[in-house]
Amino acid sequence: MKNYNFFKTDDNSTGLYNLRIGDIYHSKTGAYKESNEKFISPSYEILKNKNNIKLLDICTGIGYNLKAFINKFIDKELIIDCIDIDDSLVKISPFIKDGIDNQSIKFFLLNEILKNNIRLDDLNMELKECLNLENKHFFDEDMLNLIYFLSKSPYKTMQTPQKGTFLHNIYYNYISFSNSKDEISHLFLNKSIKYHFNDARIILNNIHSTYDVIFLDAFSPQKDPSLWTIDFLSLISNAMHNNSILISYSRSTPFRSALLELNLNVGKTILNNEDFGTIASKNKNNIFYPLTNYDLKLIETRSGITYKDINLNLDSSTIINNRVIEQNNSNRISHTKFLKNIV
Ligand SMILES: C[S@@+](CC[C@H](N)C(=O)[O-])C[C@H]1O[C@@H](n2cnc3c(N)ncnc32)[C@H](O)[C@@H]1O
Repeated sequence: MKNYNFFKTDDNSTGLYNLRIGDIYHSKTGAYKESNEKFISPSYEILKNKNNIKLLDICTGIGYNLKAFINKFIDKELIIDCIDIDDSLVKISPFIKDGIDNQSIKFFLLNEILKNNIRLDDLNMELKECLNLENKHFFDEDMLNLIYFLSKSPYKTMQTPQKGTFLHNIYYNYISFSNSKDEISHLFLNKSIKYHFNDARIILNNIHSTYDVIFLDAFSPQKDPSLWTIDFLSLISNAMHNNSILISYSRSTPFRSALLELNLNVGKTILNNEDFGTIASKNKNNIFYPLTNYDLKLIETRSGITYKDINLNLDSSTIINNRVIEQNNSNRISHTKFLKNIV
C-alpha cells in the first residue's frame, strides 16, 4: 500500500498527497504552474546568461521542479544532482502526466534513471504497484507503451553504452514527431542527472561540490522541520559558492531566520506583488526583493527561533518539541505581543 494518493490539479498536471505526513506534495492550483512560479521564474534572471548550470534539487519527488528547470534551460549544459529519500517517486516520474508540452523531457528522464543503475524491472515493478484502473488517467500512455516495448526488446540484455544509443535511436526515429531533432540531441548531449536516494541530511554531509542553484522543496516546516533546521541549512550554505542561489517556496520565519544567522543575504520571491517564497545568496546583488523591516522584526520574536538538529539525526517531533521548549524559556517577545504592539 503506497502512502500517497494522486489528484488532478487546476493546470491538469498530476499532484500527490502524502497520507502519512498529511501534507500535499504539490499545490492544488497546479503542480507544474507552482514549479514555474516558485522555483523557475525566481532563478531565471540570475541564471539566464550562463552557458552551463549546476543544480542541486533537494526533494525531487516526481520531478516537477526538475522537469520545469530542464524545460526552461533546454539550450544550456546542465549538471544536476537530485536527492529524495523515496526512490519510488523518482521511478514513476517519467510516466506521470505532468502538463509539460515537451514530451522529450520525460524520455530524457527515463534514460537518466536507467543510467543511474535503476533497472527496467524495478520501474515495471514500481508501476505495477501504484498503477490501477482508477488512477491510470494520471499516467502518460505513450511512456507506458514505451516501457512495455523496451521490456520486450533486446534492450534488457545490452551493455550500458549500447543501451543509451538504443534508447536515443528509438526516440529519434520513432517518437520525436512533435519535437525538433536538434532539441533531442541537445537534451542527450549536454545534460546529466545523478540521483541520490537517502535522507538529504546524510547525502549533503557527504557531497563536497558547490552548485549554481539549489532548490529546497521539503514538506512544510510545521509538518516536518528536519530539512529546515539551521544545521541542515548550514550544509546547504557549504554547497553554495559566492554567486549561488538557494530557492524555496517557504516563507517561514524560523527558516528565514536560520538563513540570516548563517550570514546569507535573504530576500523574497515575488509574484503579483505578493511574498511568494524565499531566495538566499552570498552575493547581495542576487537579492532583488530584500526582507522588509517588518519581516526582520518578526525574526527577532520567538517565531524567529530556529529549528535545531545538531547531529542531523532527530525525528520531526523531537525537533518541534525542542523548539517549543526553547521558545518557552526565551526572553524574546512573543509573536502575539509583537502583533499587538503594531496595531
Ligand atoms: C513537497 S515533496 C517534493 C515535490 C517534488 N519537488 C516534486 O516536484 O514532485 C517533498 C519530498 O521530500 C522528500 N523527503 C522527505 N523527507 C526527506 C528527507 N529527509 N530527505 C530527502 N527527501 C525527503 C519526500 O519523499 C518528497 O518527495
